Amino acid sequence: MSNVRFYQREEQVPLEMHKVRVVQKLFLLPVEERLKKIQEAGNNTFLLQNKDIYMDMITDSGVNGMSDRQVAAMSVADDSYAGSETFNRVKAAVYEVFGTENVLPAHQGRAAENILAEAYVKPGMYTLMNFHFTTTKAHITRLGGEVIELVDKKGLIPQTDDPFKGDFDLRLLRKTIKELGPEKVAFVRVEAGTNLIGGQPVSLENMLAVTDICHEFGIRSVLDASLLQDNVYFMKTREPRCKYMTTKEIYHILADRFDIIYFSARKLGFSRGGIITAHDKRFTDEMMEFVPLYEGFLTYGGMEVRSMEAMAVGLLESLDMEYISQGPEFIAYLVDELDKYGVPVIKPAGGLGAHLNCSEIVPDIPHNQYPAAAVGAALYIASGIRGMERGTVSEQREPDGTERYAELELQRLAMPRRVFTLSQVKYCADRVKWLYDNRSLIGGLEWVEEPKVLRFFFGRMKEIGYWQEDLAKKFREDFGDSL
Ligand SMILES: Cc1ncc(COP(=O)(O)O)c(C=O)c1O
Repeated sequence: MSNVRFYQREEQVPLEMHKVRVVQKLFLLPVEERLKKIQEAGNNTFLLQNKDIYMDMITDSGVNGMSDRQVAAMSVADDSYAGSETFNRVKAAVYEVFGTENVLPAHQGRAAENILAEAYVKPGMYTLMNFHFTTTKAHITRLGGEVIELVDKKGLIPQTDDPFKGDFDLRLLRKTIKELGPEKVAFVRVEAGTNLIGGQPVSLENMLAVTDICHEFGIRSVLDASLLQDNVYFMKTREPRCKYMTTKEIYHILADRFDIIYFSARKLGFSRGGIITAHDKRFTDEMMEFVPLYEGFLTYGGMEVRSMEAMAVGLLESLDMEYISQGPEFIAYLVDELDKYGVPVIKPAGGLGAHLNCSEIVPDIPHNQYPAAAVGAALYIASGIRGMERGTVSEQREPDGTERYAELELQRLAMPRRVFTLSQVKYCADRVKWLYDNRSLIGGLEWVEEPKVLRFFFGRMKEIGYWQEDLAKKFREDFGDSL
């Protein structure tokens, strides 16, 4: 987005610096059908069908709008098992963005995490991070490692005006390394744009301080750059030292200081796929053998060449402030609308999406009746919008089977980049407001089928009592024959 000021200041909204040239028809089912669909889906928004969804806000991953230049690039993809020109173009784009020469491909972000974990995590070892991501943690624990989260406590306060809630607690990081012993630490991972705590950014200062500590103790530093484009936008707009840096300078400073960078190109790069990159070949050499084993040959790594071409162009677009500000500015607009109305929402607005604070919206629903999942099911009934549970359902049970209650019970409304119009975002705000006014109707959920691993993807739940029917009825009363 650009610095465009409206004549009528009160009408100021984020202004897109792109236009839409390919469209996809959407359907909004009547509320009675929405009720039926969510119940058939076991109250799990992952199990809904896309044709039954009006706004798909489940993720920003692999669903971002492609540019004309990306689509054009896809037609020149060089399809060969080994040594494709397409991979050389990806490498050149990674070099432009990060300045790094060593590049390993993987089919998506979690595949890169698998390789990283296979290379460095051994039973009894620890990985320290500001906050875990579901797939990152699953790979580490699968290999007998343990994850320790060291996010500054401000990150877990739902509403503050702190600009960098994803920051590490540096004192605690140092203390933890000393207590564990540096040899027990597989790596320290900084997650840019911390996903599970509301897409909250980490400051440049904090990231660099983490790498300093790693160097001091001789521990590998890893940057998960999947959400780095949002994070860079926040560095430039919230951190005085970054204001006059170019986006590229910021990416390069980070790449100069972290040992290893990996990312999901489903986010960074407006495409699909995953990348691991490093200045020092020693690191990519240590991980290289796992690429052909799990992904594919070293010049495609399980990716489809057309996506790789799109990634190469998309990565360069991640340097463009007008592109990378669109997501955060739409999210800020939605968060602001909800906040003005009194809906509890994570503040300040982060990247990735808006996050409803369900512990406050439905305080009477206990963790073990899954308040965030309940709000997600209710929102689909109220709007045809699907979000994603980011609360206790997204956690793993403890080894003894007891529930690990989430620090924050969030319903995430992701904002795919360059996809929605502002009127759709206004519709979303309107329906969330209605739901908030009718929150007393929302009840809890219980498991019907609970998978052992990553249960939030395919688990099924049912409503406790008949609250969903009551909610649909109230919608009909309030909205008449409206969809
Ligand atoms: C911070 C972060 N890391 C890693 C991943 C995993 O990437 P992928 O979905 O491409 O496997 C995600 C995906 O949402 C993410 O947000």
